[in-house]
Amino acid sequence: ATSFTKSWYLFFTTTNFTPPSQHQQELTFLSLKFAPKNEEMRTLELHGHVGLNSLPDELVKRRVKKGFSFNILCVGETGIGKSTLINTLFKSNFENEEATHYDEEVKLLPRTYDIQESNINLRVTVVHTVGFGDQINLLKSSDPIVDYIDTQFQKYLDEELKIKRSLLNYHDTRIHVCLYFIAPNGHSLKALDLVTMKKLDSKVNIIPVIAKSDTLTRNELVNLKIKVMSELVSNGVQLYQFPTEDEAVAEINSSMNTQLPFAVIGSTEDITVGNKTVKGRMYPWGSVQVENENHCDVVKLREMLLRVNTEDLREQTHFRHYELYRRCKLEEMGFKDPSNDNQSFSLQKTYEAKRKEFLKELQHKEESMRQMFVNKVKEAEVELKEKEKELQGRFELLKTMHQEEKRNLEEKKREMEEEMNAFNRRKVAAETLMGQAVQGSSQQPFKKEKDKKK
Ligand code: GTP
Ligand code: MG
Repeated sequence: ATSFTKSWYLFFTTTNFTPPSQHQQELTFLSLKFAPKNEEMRTLELHGHVGLNSLPDELVKRRVKKGFSFNILCVGETGIGKSTLINTLFKSNFENEEATHYDEEVKLLPRTYDIQESNINLRVTVVHTVGFGDQINLLKSSDPIVDYIDTQFQKYLDEELKIKRSLLNYHDTRIHVCLYFIAPNGHSLKALDLVTMKKLDSKVNIIPVIAKSDTLTRNELVNLKIKVMSELVSNGVQLYQFPTEDEAVAEINSSMNTQLPFAVIGSTEDITVGNKTVKGRMYPWGSVQVENENHCDVVKLREMLLRVNTEDLREQTHFRHYELYRRCKLEEMGFKDPSNDNQSFSLQKTYEAKRKEFLKELQHKEESMRQMFVNKVKEAEVELKEKEKELQGRFELLKTMHQEEKRNLEEKKREMEEEMNAFNRRKVAAETLMGQAVQGSSQQPFKKEKDKKK
């Protein structure tokens, strides 16, 4: 009941759904009257400079002052190179804790950092999937990731539905991009990759990357890219597409769309190439430079993610993924937009209908619980009666055995008493005989002495 009231309370508090006042209704009526349907918008010419061209500057100033936020989710198995790549992309040293392989379930570890470049402040949240792919049973590996993304959407929705909402200062934790790390050592995607990406594609912008691509030859890399993309397409996984509507970025973005998944190499080490120091990896047989576009796609990924399409990723998150989540949630709560026949949506009616539905469900649950309780009591009663019967039987048996024993003992007692009596009789007889014998022997020596004197 509490959760039901809470969701409805949240809904009521949204200003979007406040019923129009009389005044507002009149205004709507007037605007409809003076702006008839199908009337074209008229263009008005200005006869002098009014300063509209500074509007974008104003916008930029405000946005710069407020700062930007960008949230990245890294999904990939333990040790695949997630932390190293993030450090490489941001040319920075984020905290890096090695994950163990023994976690019983996948955990999501978010870390937020404030980064400043020139006068631009960026609040980055990097979320790592700890223990992804380590469990024996991988069926539930993607659930914590889905839950995490949904929780961030729900937090935003809760804020949006408050009476006193502060979306301007709200720390938006919704995930703007998911870097999905594909292992380089297989023939293609693993089942876990496909299942996870399929579950995430309607919730987040996915950009797949082939991790540790320095372990692949040029041909192997080309083949792996083709195989991965064809598997994703045949399984209907929707990846994030770099937008091509804007002419300024259409060319680069459409070219990048054909190069997915990006082959990445991570490194925080400096190596010397000629007389230059660059980030790279040194091997016994040579070296690889992470920022060299002939060696890997790290620069392309950085360009796409942090320079060209950051705002699009944020917009897609808000207008596509969050919108879908919000719509499903509100529909779940029973809301509808006004229908085409101008039947306005009645909040009161929907609330009543939902309340009735909820109470009916509650009643049904109560009834089934009561029935369950009665059945359990009946079962316990039958069980008790059976136990009582069994105990009674055992008691009767013991009683019979006891009586038998008692009878036997009494019989024995009687026999022993008889034996004792016989023994006593024999004893008395023996004592009598002994007494007589003693008397007889004491009179005889006296008689002998008398005979001697004679
Ligand atoms: P957990 O957070 O523990 O799951 O690991 P992770 O995915 O963050 O991997 P991390 O970045 O800690 O890298 C693991 C190991 O792989 C380290 O020894 C890195 O030096 C190495 N490594 C990272 N990126 C690359 C790469 O592109 N190529 C190669 N060959 N090794 C890499
Ligand atoms: Mg890590």
